[in-house]
Amino acid sequence: MAQPERPTGDAQPACCASRKASDLQPGGEGGSHLPRRGILGSVVAWVLGLFALSPSFVAGIAAFLSPLGGKAQKGVLLRLTPLDNLPKDGTPRKFPVIAEKRNAWTFSREPVGAVFLRLLPNGDVHALHVVCPHAGCAIEYRPAQGGGQEGQFVCPCHLAHFDLSGKRLDAVSPSPRDMDTLRVEVRDGEVWVEFQNFQLGTADKKPVA
Ligand code: FES
Repeated sequence: MAQPERPTGDAQPACCASRKASDLQPGGEGGSHLPRRGILGSVVAWVLGLFALSPSFVAGIAAFLSPLGGKAQKGVLLRLTPLDNLPKDGTPRKFPVIAEKRNAWTFSREPVGAVFLRLLPNGDVHALHVVCPHAGCAIEYRPAQGGGQEGQFVCPCHLAHFDLSGKRLDAVSPSPRDMDTLRVEVRDGEVWVEFQNFQLGTADKKPVA
C-alpha cells in the first residue's frame, strides 16, 4: 500500500513559502523587522476601520449605491420626455422614470417609478406620482365614458377615485390623501420632474427618507 509522503525538514510552512527577500525591510533578515506589506496592510485596514465606523461614511456609501443617489428626501430632477409627447387636449399620459446609477466601474439605467404628466390649458405641465398613497398600488387613468365628463384616476386595489388634478373624489376614500404631486420644470422643450417617493398610509405627504 502506498504510504503518504512525509514533509522533509527543509520544506517551509505554507504561510511562509511565498515570502521573498523583497518583502523584508532593508537592514537585516527576518528578526525584528516586519514585512513591508504587513505594515502597509495594517495601516490601510486601520484607516478603513475608522471610516467604516463612521455613520456618515455608511450613509455615503448607501447613497452612492442608491438609484436615486440618496436624494429621495429632496427629490432628483430627471428628464422624462419632450414636451411634444404630451397630448394637446390635456389627457394625462404615463411615463416611466429612469434613474442613472453609476459608480467607479459601472453605469446603468434603472426604472425607479412612473409619473402621469398632463398639459394644462395655460401651457404648464402637471405631474402626479402613480403610486397610490393608501397602500402603494399603481393608479390607472380611466378616460371619460362620454356625456361631457372628464376622465378619472382610479386605484384598482381598493377603488380610490381621483380627479385629473389628483384630488380624491370619494365621499369616504380609502386613500388618506390626494395623489402626490411632483415639481415640474420645462427646459428647452423637455419636461423634467423632481422625482421622489412618499410614505404610504399617512394623511400628510412625507418624503421617504
Ligand atoms: S392601494 Fe390604492 S386604494 Fe388601496
